[in-house]
Amino acid sequence: MGTTKKIGIITSGGDSPGMNAAIKSIVHYANMKNINCLGFKYGYDGLINNNYLLLSNNKVKDIIGFGGTIIGSGRSIEFLTKKGRKKAYKNYLYNKLDGLIIIGGNGTFTGVNKFTKEFNIPIIGIPGTIDNDIYGTDLTLGYDTALNTIIKTVDKIKDTANSNNRIFIVEVMGKKTGYLALNSGIALDALYIIFNREYNLKKLVSLLKKGNIFSKIIIVAENTKIGSASKKIYNFIKSSITNYEIRRTILGHIQRGGSPTCIDRILGIRLGLEAIKKIIKYDNNFVIGIKKNKIIHIPFEKSVRKKKIDINSIYIYNKFYNT
Ligand code: F6P
Repeated sequence: MGTTKKIGIITSGGDSPGMNAAIKSIVHYANMKNINCLGFKYGYDGLINNNYLLLSNNKVKDIIGFGGTIIGSGRSIEFLTKKGRKKAYKNYLYNKLDGLIIIGGNGTFTGVNKFTKEFNIPIIGIPGTIDNDIYGTDLTLGYDTALNTIIKTVDKIKDTANSNNRIFIVEVMGKKTGYLALNSGIALDALYIIFNREYNLKKLVSLLKKGNIFSKIIIVAENTKIGSASKKIYNFIKSSITNYEIRRTILGHIQRGGSPTCIDRILGIRLGLEAIKKIIKYDNNFVIGIKKNKIIHIPFEKSVRKKKIDINSIYIYNKFYNT
């Protein structure tokens, strides 16, 4: 173990607001310690193809408020193969790197887990995904911004829904976790939140038939067990009620973009700083997370465990609001 002279930074998976804040704090601290930072472009593919950007202080100067990631992100198919990971390792050695900081979600850390075991590289992970699906941390970079984007957007949908007396089914992202659905649903005062198996369409229809509902918004999580969730639910409700017109909106990738909220900026700065400090100390092989506002370390193996929302709270929400 020598002095740290050069590290690599990778953002991987779906981009998320706040990734740039993390990059900024890593680069500023590293440059202060005379450590060079190579930002590999478009995820693991950047390391596989040795495609990188030298990150000076000047390059990261104004990026704290930018959405996305200035080094690009991606889901590398090649990195899933041993051959691809070998190529990545070859470039790690070729560039004489002393460690990697990788920012991404659940899929990203599944890859890291294999990579560190195969090649014994010092790696630190930073949770960056709008899905909030990293086990052990309360928050991931981008989740708060995505949640706020959903709320701002659906508030607009509410205006038209109320004016035209229409029911709107709104599908939100979140992969297999329902964090975005649950918390946006509560904050939007949704009539119903649909996630996994915790819903009862017949009850929802009878509620709609009665009329006199307090909200016209139904939030549906993508990947609900029913399959292409919002479409099937839309068809079912449409064929069962006559007293309301019904429309369906898929919010889509708007949820991933935009300037990060204050929470995501500060989180990015804190996690980035901790990551670079730990790499320098040769203390590694974990994801840096946050629990009750305290920085914590989560071993890679643990970080990829299934993170479950409190499913009961969806059940209670739907029941409490609709009885
Ligand atoms: O993981 C982030 C995420 O936005 C998920 O919420 C969503 O399911 C997925 O990525 C969409 O992926 P893509 O950008 O490849 O369509």
